[in-house]
Amino acid sequence: MSRFESAVYVTRKTTFCASHRYHNPDWSDEENRRVFGACNNPYGHGHNYEVEVTVCGPIDRETGMVLNLRELDDLLEKEVVSRFDHRYINKEVSEFETTIPTTENIALHIWDRLEPALRRRRSRLHRVRLYESADFYVEYLGEGTVE
Ligand code: NI
Repeated sequence: MSRFESAVYVTRKTTFCASHRYHNPDWSDEENRRVFGACNNPYGHGHNYEVEVTVCGPIDRETGMVLNLRELDDLLEKEVVSRFDHRYINKEVSEFETTIPTTENIALHIWDRLEPALRRRRSRLHRVRLYESADFYVEYLGEGTVE
């Protein structure tokens, strides 16, 4: 088997700072405080997020690379950093006007923004990992549903 058929995983990391508030409008204020605690603070709070995006594919014979890192950087800037950095996610990222901006929901959202643009004949988005803090992250691998 040629080494050019091996699946290689390439990861790029980027960061953004953003604030959010967890609030379910279907619940009372008391219930929101009970479930979300400090994350329900009406004025929101911020995090320094880190995103790791992993693309899987074979090494291109001509470039020696799985993908062009500059293209990936441009995509991350357009679809992630410029949309989230220094934003209040609940109000400034339209998809989160009705979706609670948890790390889980943001990770899936980032996947949905990136995946179509990274779909190639032989390579694809493998994983989005979103760190909300040094000791908490969520990852999504595009898998279907949970039984
Ligand atoms: Ni938070």
